[in-house]
Amino acid sequence: MSRVKIAAGNWKMNKTAKEAVEFVEALKPRVADADAEVVVGVPFVCIPGVKKAVEGSNIKVAAQNIHWEEKGAFTGEVSGPMLADLGVDYVIIGHSERRQYFAETDETVNKKAHAVFKYGMKPIICVGESLTQREQGVTAELVRYQVKIALLGLTAEQVKETVIAYEPIWAIGTGKTATTEQAEEVCAIIRNVVKELYGDDVAQAIRIQYGGSVNAANAAELFAMPNIDGGLVGGASLKLDDFEKIAKYNK
Ligand code: G3H
Repeated sequence: MSRVKIAAGNWKMNKTAKEAVEFVEALKPRVADADAEVVVGVPFVCIPGVKKAVEGSNIKVAAQNIHWEEKGAFTGEVSGPMLADLGVDYVIIGHSERRQYFAETDETVNKKAHAVFKYGMKPIICVGESLTQREQGVTAELVRYQVKIALLGLTAEQVKETVIAYEPIWAIGTGKTATTEQAEEVCAIIRNVVKELYGDDVAQAIRIQYGGSVNAANAAELFAMPNIDGGLVGGASLKLDDFEKIAKYNK
């Protein structure tokens, strides 16, 4: 099966609403002929402006978090209906920064994945090991566990629409990219877990990205690996030239 690669930028806590609109206006013509599906993961406050700016283009919009409840006394949180109302396409969940600084757990990631689907969006679920865990030789077990819990209770159709981002924590924002072999090895492990849980059909359909210091120079090599279906890109997604090259990895 040929899967469409996905180049998703995760802007993290960068850019004001005005800067975000200026950026995507400039990005639109540059990625109109992109090889990958193009997604920008923007701060909540940038979503309305960015959605309007990308209208009629091939750029999709992701939020960087969601609360699993529909509404209620959850100060500072944003719900599925709120994101769906703005036309959000994808929601990034379980990013290691949220696990580290905001007490995200595998269980809350699972609840959020259900909420994302309930309101008609698609999740980009992040998993990955720390340097210590890699050195302890538990990467495969840990990532398998994270994936299993994240997908609990989702239907086969939902899992086909899910994107999993393998992001080794030691490679995030460090300039230290995993080698293509290391990235491919873990992405293949993830595809195999999905196969065990849902069968080969679903495993061949789900898209598994690599994230961690993806840049204009290494994207083509990473994306050429059989089990790597694109990248979740942090720093380089904030730079027009770099993100354009990543989205056009095949040109
Ligand atoms: O979500 C993106 C990742 O955290 C990767 O960030 O490309 O800056 O290393 P980075």
